[in-house]
Amino acid sequence: SKGTYDSYMLKEIDEQPAVLRRIVQKYFSDDRIQIDSELLHELAQADRIYIVAAGTSYHAGLVGKNLLEQLAQIPVEVELASEFGYHLPQLSKHPFFIFLSQSGETADSRQALVQIKDLHYPILTLTNVPNSTLAREADYTLLLHAGPEIAVASTKAYTAQIAVQVILAQALSQEKELTPSKPLAVQQQLGLAANAMQSLVDAKEEIQALVQKYFSKQETVFFIGRGNGYAVALEAALKLKEVSYIHAEGFAAGELKHGTIALIEEQTPVVAFILEGQTAAHTRGNIREVVSRGAQAIVVSQRQFSQKGDQIIFANLDERINALAAIVPMQLLAYYAALERGNDVDQPRNLAKSVTVE
Ligand code: F6R
Repeated sequence: SKGTYDSYMLKEIDEQPAVLRRIVQKYFSDDRIQIDSELLHELAQADRIYIVAAGTSYHAGLVGKNLLEQLAQIPVEVELASEFGYHLPQLSKHPFFIFLSQSGETADSRQALVQIKDLHYPILTLTNVPNSTLAREADYTLLLHAGPEIAVASTKAYTAQIAVQVILAQALSQEKELTPSKPLAVQQQLGLAANAMQSLVDAKEEIQALVQKYFSKQETVFFIGRGNGYAVALEAALKLKEVSYIHAEGFAAGELKHGTIALIEEQTPVVAFILEGQTAAHTRGNIREVVSRGAQAIVVSQRQFSQKGDQIIFANLDERINALAAIVPMQLLAYYAALERGNDVDQPRNLAKSVTVE
């Protein structure tokens, strides 16, 4: 039930710190990761991982790719299920497939899974729904433990998918006996991420004020970032589009100058993510470029990379997992923009929770 909430979307956004803590409880015992050893053994044999998903789950996969490549040192491709099923790329010799699906029922993902099953490659499904089609048809399943997600716009399943991929990447790194140059204290970092998320949901009035200040009369919003910030930009744009119906685009910050900057007009809101030290200065440069063309910049930064004037600042986390925090204010931004426009936030027009047609 919605309890005291007016909408499932806001309830599910607020649940994210608790979901993250629950995932840690479910996947750790005595500080050790609990994942089927057969799954890890088979994953460790793979020469490449293919993550297949749609929509928000695809965006979670983009973050998962970075995590798996950095922590487990294995090449990863992220594929749109609707493309992959009918245009199989040249596969590696020993591929391993990970399907990401909140519902476990998405037809595009199922179609791709059937193709892969025919080829007898190993399949793991990450899903929120035990016994869903994609769970039943895979060799292995990892559950998201996010609790039922009722609002059409996916929120807590996205962060749950990232969290489970962090844990999986770490477990695979251990299985392969890698000694990372920058170890990730997964359990501690997920705890810190839950705290950061809590502070962000507690500051929701500030996000509502930003929506009133910057989004009231705007018909187009851009989101830019690099690395995981780029992945978050894509998801932030999708969230805003689907519930507020405002035209939104997510871009790699460095690509703006290669064309998109032509679209920047007086007052166009540009939300920029500063999530990593390596590229912070470059993205700051991109922000200056759009501001000098009249854009209104809204900057989301991790404290250590923040500057005076940044509108949304969250606590320091390991850069590899801070997408978990950065997306939360964006979900709230979409929610309040939808509310302002009088939209049905839980049941946006033209959308269904589970897309069962190809
Ligand atoms: C976005 C959204 C959709 C789903 C997509 C995949 O908020 O809800 O983009 O993410 O249809 O659904 P699942 O994850 O159930 O396969």
